[in-house]
Amino acid sequence: MNGTVGPGPATPDWERLRGAAREVAGRAHAPWSGLSVGAAGLSDDGTLLAACNVENASYGLTLCAECGLVSMLRAGGGHALVALSVVAGDGGPLTPCGRCRQVLMDNGGPEMLVDAGPGADPVRLADLLPGAFDAAALTARRQRGPAQ
Ligand code: THU
Repeated sequence: MNGTVGPGPATPDWERLRGAAREVAGRAHAPWSGLSVGAAGLSDDGTLLAACNVENASYGLTLCAECGLVSMLRAGGGHALVALSVVAGDGGPLTPCGRCRQVLMDNGGPEMLVDAGPGADPVRLADLLPGAFDAAALTARRQRGPAQ
């Protein structure tokens, strides 16, 4: 598997997402923290995507698994994630960090569902990032248009 595992169902299959996240977490590059992370998401066109964290000797340059996932989404022509599962190397659910919640808001939106683990209801991104600064706020409040 190269991270993109082909078209999937429109309705989230959470076990399938968790499985993909667990598999890719096994290929994380996390020698510094020791925390492997896998993220799997379902795009608006039904494609299942998966990515892992990639750490750097300069700690601040670490790439979270969710950021890799968003890059894959856009590179593949997708526009939004509709469902996301993030797991640690132990296979259990992991909640996205604050920076990733903000990145996900632009690339999934407030209704994107985030896995809370087996037997638990998924959580809307809006509930993980209440009062988010988003694209609507940017366009509403800026005082001039973007540079040409
Ligand atoms: N990490 C992620 O990949 N996603 C998150 O949402 C939380 C943190 C990674 C970054 C770093 O490689 C390791 O977990 C420890 O912070």
